[in-house]
Amino acid sequence: YVKNTKEILEKASKERYAIGAFNFNNMEFLQAILEAAEEEKAPVIVATSEGAIKYIGKGDIETGAKLAVEMVRTYAEKLSVPVALHLDHGRDFKVIMAAIKAGYSSVMIDASHLPFEENLRETKRIVEIAHAVGISVEAELGKLKGIEDNVVEKESVLVDPEEAKVFVKETEVDFLAPAIGTSHGAFKFKGEAQLDFERLKKVKEYTQIPLVLHGASMVPQDIVKLANEYGAELSGAKGVPEDMLKKAIELGINKINTDTDLRITFVAYLRKVLSEDKSQIDPRKIFKPVFEQVKEIVKERIRIFGSSGKA
Ligand code: G3H
Ligand code: 13P
Ligand code: ZN
Repeated sequence: YVKNTKEILEKASKERYAIGAFNFNNMEFLQAILEAAEEEKAPVIVATSEGAIKYIGKGDIETGAKLAVEMVRTYAEKLSVPVALHLDHGRDFKVIMAAIKAGYSSVMIDASHLPFEENLRETKRIVEIAHAVGISVEAELGKLKGIEDNVVEKESVLVDPEEAKVFVKETEVDFLAPAIGTSHGAFKFKGEAQLDFERLKKVKEYTQIPLVLHGASMVPQDIVKLANEYGAELSGAKGVPEDMLKKAIELGINKINTDTDLRITFVAYLRKVLSEDKSQIDPRKIFKPVFEQVKEIVKERIRIFGSSGKA
């Protein structure tokens, strides 16, 4: 269990691979992620959104952050791989402070919805506080939204590399999430998947810090199909193809956020198990094969990211 996410990511940035950052909301997802990382001998980042903290704490932020830290610490102590706990998309100052106080390794300040100057000011404020207690910080530039093939829209939604340069210098943020065309959830692209790799390349050149790709789930079509066969309604679900993830890593992405792939896998196999074993009422027996599959998708992701064996 490491205190600083920065060390893990700077090594990845130097050696040009990516670390998986996987979201969890409960014990079972956390176990699956950590087991996968241990089996792959990969450093790993586990992350909670503000919503996850509230969910874990039943609405109480301090309780949620404390429980997340205690769960991660207790499991990670038994492992050989470095594990960092990160606050994903921190927007509420109270939640960010609760995460820092509870012992998170790093926090994200997501002020990407604000105008550039305000994002910069807000990020700088969090960096000052977090750095004073040895915690690293991620920020975001541009907006995570699907883009159509439209130049004007692209300019307003995607990261501006020149702004990224100024932003990183002024805020002293440790890692940056540049918007290059991905979006959260299971429906990322209406037509062909497209990411702006030219922008990504420039952002890396100008900033030279570890970069983060949000909305990076692959949404594997075989798992979508399985879910639909067992009653889900997910037609049209589409993610980021594997070759695009690899290209993004070559161009400087070092942290890849994944939530949707774990959620879809969970839902698909939960539906399958429940419909195949209709007399089973022991949740542990239902969950065991389901979370084996969640673990498998995490391992597959880690291998694609190139972080297997890097622990
Ligand atoms: O960034 C989004 C993550 O998938 C977390 O989402 O706010 O539903 O926990 P959430
Ligand atoms: P996905 O929805 O593509 O898994 O993205 C997750 C994410 O960016 C969490 O911050
Ligand atoms: Zn995200």
